[in-house]
Amino acid sequence: MKKNKIAVIILAAGKGKRMKSQTPKVLHPLCGRPMIGYALDLVKGLRPAKVVAVLGHKYNEVKQELPDGMEIVIQKQLKGTADAVKLALARLKKFHGTALILYADTPLLTEATVNRLLKHHRDNALAATLLTAGVTKPSGYGRILRDGYSCISGIVEEKDASDYQKEIKEINTGIVCFDKDLLSEALKFVRPDNRKKEYYLTDVINIFYRKNQLMENVNLDEVDEALGINSRLDLAKANAIMQARINARIMEQGITLVHPASTFISYGTKIGTDSVIYPFTVIERDVKIGKHCSIGPFAHLREGTRLGDGVIVGNFLEIVRSNIGPKALLKHFSYIGDSKIGRQVNIGAGTVTANFDGKNKNLTVVGDNAFIGSDTVLVAPVKIGKAAKTGAGSVVVKNTLVPAGSVVAGVPAKSLKHK
Ligand code: UD1
Ligand code: MG
Repeated sequence: MKKNKIAVIILAAGKGKRMKSQTPKVLHPLCGRPMIGYALDLVKGLRPAKVVAVLGHKYNEVKQELPDGMEIVIQKQLKGTADAVKLALARLKKFHGTALILYADTPLLTEATVNRLLKHHRDNALAATLLTAGVTKPSGYGRILRDGYSCISGIVEEKDASDYQKEIKEINTGIVCFDKDLLSEALKFVRPDNRKKEYYLTDVINIFYRKNQLMENVNLDEVDEALGINSRLDLAKANAIMQARINARIMEQGITLVHPASTFISYGTKIGTDSVIYPFTVIERDVKIGKHCSIGPFAHLREGTRLGDGVIVGNFLEIVRSNIGPKALLKHFSYIGDSKIGRQVNIGAGTVTANFDGKNKNLTVVGDNAFIGSDTVLVAPVKIGKAAKTGAGSVVVKNTLVPAGSVVAGVPAKSLKHK
């Protein structure tokens, strides 16, 4: 029974040198979400007995992304993946079972694959089970070494590989299950005798081999899943793959994406059924869209946007931190920021909320059934009453309260009755 337990070790201490960034690698976003978030989601699904995250480079920033209460160890000196795992194991002294190693820089890995790996590991009572992949371009990855009987005998890192070994197309994804007690023992023998002078976790494989421990691999069918992000190029590649996955899921939920390849929807976006998203729409994080909405082409919905059912957001719109009521029409170029727009409001072409006064962001409120004429500037804070109207080209200055049902026009906008 005990042996069936899983402890997960998430390695996230690395600097990500090849990213050439001030931001720690694992915090670079993928479809609007820090990379490490995807590994954390995966871990949640596995329901492990224990989770230990190894942080190092700018750990205070990375820590913000971890759920409260997650066990953390700080690797002060980045001495390599074996050193990182050793530190994590110090927190798992009383744990006996399977230690699953995940890298926070491999965000495309799916739960189904990890479950397949865990199952193989348990069913065959192995000392180690490696997730491997056969690739056409293995560069950058550790290569799997096999003996004359095709048994796994070690892993050689690209930097240490001979020309012959560099030709090997079977690579280490980095994701691996170990029997935790055997791993602890083997780590004592890892030495930094390689080009990078680091303690490599991958050296454990050859140590196991020499001790006749049973090792096997599970091969990845979907090679993309193994993509380890080390550079901006990898990041762009992974982003495109993740975007395709998000878009596919959204379409499965009954939403039309007219041209998925030019539709950028962040992780976690909620969209109601029968909404249609036209090309070149960008939806950032924390956006919720109701049913039967029509968005774009060329719409930019930023964080905190909420659209009720049946809203039409046409072309060249930017909306941020705003609530738009059901059946409101915003059909042509506009900027709506920090606003509360009621139901069935018509926002005319060219309407702009002047929400920022140089210091603060101020609120614009537009009541139900109001009609905002083309080219209106609403200087916030400002409130337009229910069913009120503004004339084309009007500038409603700040602190104005346009009474319900009234009509204002001009610069500055005045009630037509008083004209
Ligand atoms: C590693 C593997 C390589 C594999 C590849 C897959 C080793 C030695 N090599 O290489 O075989 O093909 O991943 O993507 O394991 N980290 C720490 N502390 C450290 C160093 C790294 O926590 O001291 C973390 C990093 O944050 C990262 C992960 O470990 O999440 C992997 O480190 P990285 O430097 O990206 O290793 P690769 O060179 O990609
Ligand atoms: Mg890597």
